[in-house]
Parts: sequence; C-alpha cells; structure tokens
Amino acid sequence: MAKNHDCVVILDFGAVNAQMAAKAVRALNIYCEVLPYTASAERVSALNPRALIYQRGAACGERTAGREPHADVAALGLPVLDLQDAPCDGATLKRFLADDCGIAQDWTTERFIEESVAELRAQIGDKQVLLAMSGGVDSSVCAVLLHRAVGKQLTCVFVDHGCMRKDEPQQVKEIFRDAFGINLVAIDAEARFLARLQGVTDPEAKRKAIGEEFIRVFEEEAGKLGTLDYLVQGTIYPDIIESGWDGGKPVKAHHNVGGLPERIAFKGIVEPVKYLFKDEVRKVGEALGLPRVVTDRQPFPGPGLGVRCLGELTKEKLDALRDADAIFRRAMADRGFDKEANQFFAVLTNVRTVGVTDDERTYGYVVCLRAIQTPDFMTAKVLPLPADFLIEVATEIATAVKGCNRVVYDITPKPPATIEWE
Ligand code: XMP
Repeated sequence: MAKNHDCVVILDFGAVNAQMAAKAVRALNIYCEVLPYTASAERVSALNPRALIYQRGAACGERTAGREPHADVAALGLPVLDLQDAPCDGATLKRFLADDCGIAQDWTTERFIEESVAELRAQIGDKQVLLAMSGGVDSSVCAVLLHRAVGKQLTCVFVDHGCMRKDEPQQVKEIFRDAFGINLVAIDAEARFLARLQGVTDPEAKRKAIGEEFIRVFEEEAGKLGTLDYLVQGTIYPDIIESGWDGGKPVKAHHNVGGLPERIAFKGIVEPVKYLFKDEVRKVGEALGLPRVVTDRQPFPGPGLGVRCLGELTKEKLDALRDADAIFRRAMADRGFDKEANQFFAVLTNVRTVGVTDDERTYGYVVCLRAIQTPDFMTAKVLPLPADFLIEVATEIATAVKGCNRVVYDITPKPPATIEWE
C-alpha cells in the first residue's frame, strides 16, 4: 500500500491508545503505518514517508516519558508532528498532513480494493489458494477479495463444529456459495466434535479440544483437495502493531480457531487485510457487497457456543442455547438495542432450577443474557437494558426454549469478570 500512496509513519512510544492517531490519519484517507519508536532509520525510510507523527504525550500517559526516537530517524529531516505538543484530532492532523505537507488524501476503500486485487493477482499468479472460512468479517472479506482476484483458484473450507449460532452454517453457504459463487467446501463435523468433546467439562480443555479437532478436520479436507499453494490468513493491522514491539520480527500467527495447520506444506501465506483496522475491514466488506449480517457481525470466539454452553457439550444443550440466543438477538434488533451493544449473547449455565409449566413441575436450565459496551474488548461495561425488555425476553425464552425455565441478566463489568463465561 505504501508504494501506491503518500505514506505517513506514526512512531508509537508505547502510548496507552497506540492506534488512535493511525485511525485518525486514515479517516482523512491518508495511508499510514505504525512502527515502534525504536524503529531504525532504514526501517522508516523503507516506507518512503512524507511525514512522521510521534504518538506520545499528555493524551498517552506516563509510559512514554523519556523515550526518544533514534537519532538517525530524527536526522532524516522529515516534517514531524509531535503529539506531546498537539491534540490528536482530525483538524490538527489535516492541517499538518494535507495543508502543510501537501499529502494526497487518496487512500479510499475503493482504491484499497482495486490495488489489493491487483497485488493478490500478481502474488498468486496461477496457483491455488486455501482459506478457512469462519463466517466472521475478516475471513469473509478475505474470501471476496481473493475471489475477485483469482476466482476459482480459491477454495474456502468451512468447518461446522456444531457450536455455531442458529442458522449460521446455512447462512455461510447461501452468502458465499450461492450469492458470490465462491468455491466453498462445507463440512458438517458436528457429530465428530460432539464425540470428541464427550465428558469434557473444563473450560480450557474444551477450548483445546475444539481447536485441535478443528485443525485435524481442516487438514483432512485440505489433503483431499490436492495441490495447495497458498494459505490465507485473516491477520489484521492491530495484530501486526502489537507484535511490532519485539523489534519488528515476523508477524505473530493469529488464528480464528485453534491454530494453523502446521503439517500441511504451503508455498506461502496470503494476508489480504493485514494493513487494515477492524472498522476498515468492515467498510471494505460493505463496498464488496457483503450483507450487513456479515459486515456488522460481532466478535464470535473461535470455539463458538462451546464456551457459552457451560459444562459438557451435548446437542440438546447446544440446540437450547441456539434457540435462546436467537430469541435474544432478534429482540435486541427489534428494539434497536443491538446498535448500543458491542457484543451480546446468551449463555446456557450448568445450573438447573425448578419451574412450572401448565401446572406441571419442570426442572430446567438457567439461561443467562449478557450485553456489553466496550471500546476495545479489554474492559467492558454492562449495557443497562430496560427491565420491561428483559422481562419480555426472559418470558419468551423460558416459555419457548425446551429445557430452560429461568433467565438471568449478567450485570458484571470486565474486570473483574471476562466477557465470555468460559
Ligand atoms: P473475554 O472473555 O476474554 O473476551 O473478555 C474478549 C473478547 O474476545 C473474544 N474471545 C475470543 N475470540 N477466540 C476468539 O477469536 C477465542 O477463543 C475467544 N475467546 C474470547 C470474546 O468474544 C470477546 O469479544
């Protein structure tokens, strides 16, 4: 990207919100990259920047005090905006970058798509590409970009581990195979995962088992497909920035589920969205014509409902959770509360309580609802949903969902709780 556009380098001095300046610069349609403040002049010059921004200062907290860039970076003679002395807002950045430095504001979503498609085509040539489709926004955007670039040379493998939300596997097939015409191999591995997970109750053991089994299924399918040259990874820019503090060593591996299949030999890795922040990935998705159900999708853990269905996983429990979660999600959307929460979902607890239906005693599971607001998922506030709404949803779930007769709302912030229950 840096070679097609005027580039700005942001030196990160270990600021609390290191990505703030980068996001503000990119909001001006100016391309920027973030490097650690320890970056050498050689590393900075490789990007051929038109200006430097030092991300440090009163906004950024004590941690940056006393840290200075390499003397040879300062000696490059590039214009510098030091955020120790200036606010990190759009007006200040525009004045410095566009007005004073004359940097072109031409890094748009459309240009990104055009240039990425051309670069992917050049990188891949006539080779075959494999992508693990999770249905999440990163892998979805990667799939559509690659499909534009190399069409049928792309094969997506979607593994349904039985812990997906209601109708999700069907939705993935409809969107990618039917609407986009992407070569998608969908594996129904529910029975296999449930067999592997039988008797496993410890949260970490469940996560590990799901991750390992995922790799095994994925490897088997990849093996069946024959020649595989490139593997796609949905790495996004924060993963790269966060790994930059080791002095710029290779990017850490980041996985949606489990890990990379290490036993399959690939000629290389393709990372189509590695220079984008999450909201930029969503914008690219919209421009590529992906439906909102994908572009607005909330984070969903790799092990899926496996970590929201407490204790041993069974089909009955997972089906009940899927139904309760679908009711909650529909109700949130109907009342517009989905726009106020960054993440919301149902959890099936492992607690059963006594209830009554049609004068008959029941003994059913307790469902817990959780809705949070968060800027970064590192901390989270509880969304204070109105009591009448919660009572309505609770009544519907406890009445309609087989095996559940009680509903509670989780009112615990993170910390001390985490967002997920396991
Ligand atoms: P916690 O529960 O740690 O979650 O507060 C923070 C965010 O991370 C998501 N999460 C995961 N995402 N694989 C993922 O890709 C995982 O194993 C995983 N576990 C938690 C969680 O949904 C929340 O958004």
